[in-house]
Amino acid sequence: MPKTNSLPAKSKKPQTKTAGAKGNSKLEEFFTDALKDIYWAEKHLTKALPKMKKAATTEELKSAIEEHIAQTEEHVSRLEQVFELMGKKAQAKKCDAMEGLIKEGDSIVEETEEGSMTRDAAIIMAAQKVEHYEIATYGGLVSLAKTMGKNEAADILAMTLEEEKQTDEGLTSIAENDINWEAEMEGQMEAEN
Ligand SMILES: [Fe+2]
Repeated sequence: MPKTNSLPAKSKKPQTKTAGAKGNSKLEEFFTDALKDIYWAEKHLTKALPKMKKAATTEELKSAIEEHIAQTEEHVSRLEQVFELMGKKAQAKKCDAMEGLIKEGDSIVEETEEGSMTRDAAIIMAAQKVEHYEIATYGGLVSLAKTMGKNEAADILAMTLEEEKQTDEGLTSIAENDINWEAEMEGQMEAEN
């Protein structure tokens, strides 16, 4: 007997269901808390990114980070719109995960040589860890907003989610063309000397 027969009936639940018009559900409370968390994270990033930009070696990475700073400011104001749509005051709550990721970025800068390509390769990786955290968060927030029937909030959050994904892809392409390779060559040249 194939195991698939024992799948619970709940898999047949309609996916279009949008329940919660009720304002004070536990889920809505959690959603608002998660908003506060990413609001803190984005605000903190607007302060951390300029330092990363300053530490970067190549103009290419500096300008990618510059673009990300402008986007991040926009993400902060979009979150304020979402708070408003939820009838809540925009409030930041310390995000331990983002604090950790930013600390890691700082130590990467300390541990790599100024003006080296290795530093850029390392900064890109640190920045992508930040992006992946944001992608996970916004992805979850979009799904929850849709579930609660907060479609306008979901649309705003989805815009940011899309930009985070693009930033992540952009960083991959900078790394692969050709910062990582140049960092590798830099290591070989040092070994030969
Ligand atoms: Fe962002």
